[in-house]
Amino acid sequence: MDFGAILKTVISLAAVSGALSLVISLAEKLLNNYGTCELDINAGRKKLSVKGGSSLLSTLAGEKIFIPSACGGKATCGLCKVAVTEGAGPLLLTEEPYISQEERDRHIRLSCQVKVKRDMKLLIPEDLFNIREFLCELVEMEDMTYDIKRLRMKLPPGQTIDFKAGQFVQFYTKPYGKVKEEVFRAYSISSKASEKDHVELLIRLVPNGICTTYVHTALKVGDTVRLSGPYGDFYLRGNCEELIMIAGGSGLAPIRSLVYDVIEKGRDDLKMRFFFGANTMRDFYYMEEFARIEKEHPNFSFIPCLAFPKPEDNWKGAEGFVTVALQEQVQNGENREAYLCGSPGMLDACIRILKEKGFTDRTIFFDKFT
Ligand SMILES: Cc1cc2nc3c(=O)[nH]c(=O)nc-3n(C[C@H](O)[C@H](O)[C@H](O)COP(=O)(O)OP(=O)(O)OC[C@H]3O[C@@H](n4cnc5c(N)ncnc54)[C@H](O)[C@@H]3O)c2cc1C
Ligand code: FES
Repeated sequence: MDFGAILKTVISLAAVSGALSLVISLAEKLLNNYGTCELDINAGRKKLSVKGGSSLLSTLAGEKIFIPSACGGKATCGLCKVAVTEGAGPLLLTEEPYISQEERDRHIRLSCQVKVKRDMKLLIPEDLFNIREFLCELVEMEDMTYDIKRLRMKLPPGQTIDFKAGQFVQFYTKPYGKVKEEVFRAYSISSKASEKDHVELLIRLVPNGICTTYVHTALKVGDTVRLSGPYGDFYLRGNCEELIMIAGGSGLAPIRSLVYDVIEKGRDDLKMRFFFGANTMRDFYYMEEFARIEKEHPNFSFIPCLAFPKPEDNWKGAEGFVTVALQEQVQNGENREAYLCGSPGMLDACIRILKEKGFTDRTIFFDKFT
């Protein structure tokens, strides 16, 4: 074949592929144009006309209805459940791991996975309508350890947040560096529930994590931070004589808020034992504060557990993983509730031990930082 023929073939192939991609993109546009869809929420309590084509989670957020979510719509947290009684289509493979048979019967779906394509009927718990969005000012940012930052945010003048100690907020990033889109992630509130005009968070850097890299490298004091909340059912029940609190890393955040809550409610009848696990000395923080609370409040005991003490640490406290101290120091689950927060691995190991000791699903409460 001569050069002219080769050139002709290449040009015609390029033209065909160009035409094909034009047809595909036109078809995509046409097929994905779902027009306006009607959302009927809680049997007519609210009716919304929305543009179809986005996830139910983001469509509702656009209407200021905030469904709990921690993974930003990646189908890895399972928090964004709502009942869709009409218009959702079949359950997707991505949803299956999070939806039990009982939930399937109630038409529960992951709202981040369901796309709004037609009219829908939804059932949303009433308390989710109280979730609000706040445009806060970051007024303080402090390194608590080499990888955990404390953020203190001031709510706009006149606005307050009513949350139960232990609950979390969603934190929205802004585009930065190569990340062109906003993402949102869950962070437990570490400040006191009685302090309603500020929110504090403890955010641990996850290598290559989109939100935590934003917080640790791009965010500056004085910036505006968008939060929504409060969310979650990790809060104090207190129908017992003693709380066993367990945390590792930034899992300390909601436990700190819970400890202050018990103190401020004057529940001197409620004993608290806080097991705080760290691998090395540099992972410990808030040590002086918890030691002070222990001195001032005889119903509170603080048990820091150091997994890998070095001779130069001169460590006098509990040695080994937090599971060792739990095994040795907690006798049984009688008249006790357990509150756990941190990585899924640590929590699973602790929950196994607690169940062996007689704690049950009704007396164990946790937030896994997935
Ligand atoms: C209810 C709830 C409350 C939470 N509260 C807090 C809190 O108070 N403080 C806090 O620091 N975090 C908290 N988290 C975790 C937080 O929501 C994010 O998942 C975490 O900060 C990572 O976000 P990212 O965008 O930086 O990482 P992503 O971009 O989402 O993830 C990047 C990569 O890191 C992996 N990864 C994600 N998280 C972790 C992790 N923790 N350790 C190791 N690898 C990980 C992912 O699988 C992924 O491969 C909470 C999570 C939940 C569900
Ligand atoms: S937002 Fe996490 S599973 Fe839907």
